[in-house]
Amino acid sequence: MFSNSYFDLGMAKAWQFGFQIPASPVMEGIVNFHHDLFFFLVVIIGFVAYVLWRSIVLFNSDANKVPYVVTHAAALEIIWTILPAVILVLIAIPSFSLLYSMDEIVEPLLTIKVIGHQWYWSYEFVNPYYLYKDMLKLHGLSDLSKQFFSDDSGSVITYDSYMISNDDAVSREQRLLEVDNKLYLPVETNVRLLVTSADVIHSWAVPSLGVKIDACPGRLNQTSIFVKRPGIFYGQCSEICGVNHGFMPIVVFGLDLLGDGTSLDSIKTEGVSSLYFFFLKKKYD
Ligand code: CUA
Repeated sequence: MFSNSYFDLGMAKAWQFGFQIPASPVMEGIVNFHHDLFFFLVVIIGFVAYVLWRSIVLFNSDANKVPYVVTHAAALEIIWTILPAVILVLIAIPSFSLLYSMDEIVEPLLTIKVIGHQWYWSYEFVNPYYLYKDMLKLHGLSDLSKQFFSDDSGSVITYDSYMISNDDAVSREQRLLEVDNKLYLPVETNVRLLVTSADVIHSWAVPSLGVKIDACPGRLNQTSIFVKRPGIFYGQCSEICGVNHGFMPIVVFGLDLLGDGTSLDSIKTEGVSSLYFFFLKKKYD
């Protein structure tokens, strides 16, 4: 299906040192911000280590038999107060712009409700008919909507997503990361997630998409996702939620709905059980 070498990179690797390959603009922003911070980190560590080393060499008791008695240096104190403040401001500017851009909901074509349970996730697609009509329109394929949807029935589609246990997992699958029903998202589409929980606090997190949002009972948290490329992106519940906390993984499947990246055979073997199956089946029938 996806012969690209980056296809399998939506998960952590053994001995991995850095971030996963970003698959959304938000994650790219996070990676870039990390690099920005690293510049200041290296400069500060270098400078402090140098000053410390020079102090040890020049001002030890062997080099200075008679201690120096200076206790105040007004100019120096002003500099070492102002300078860190300036550095903090320089860090705050990209930090806040990233923070607020992550909060931004860009007119979503698709809204998906994510519900955490002890111990699985469920996904709810609201009013799919209209959403997909919009999506086709966006791709300049309005005429196709008549062909795809014979009626206007826009019911809610809900399904549960359970981890595939080790016993059931096929060898190619990732241990403790695979689920029976993945979350299929169209690539290059603004998707809104409404995240909540049916019992305790969970957290819906997918590192390569730069998403980590708490699922709180009685509360609806909102975030948005823009998947940039086709692929499988793995995540895990990231809030201690009980004995099976470690066994409610998340799998997001980025689908190139209207491109050449997908074929019906591969969709079948992936066992799509969501709305997308309906959509793609119609596409290839
Ligand atoms: Cu659900 Cu941890």
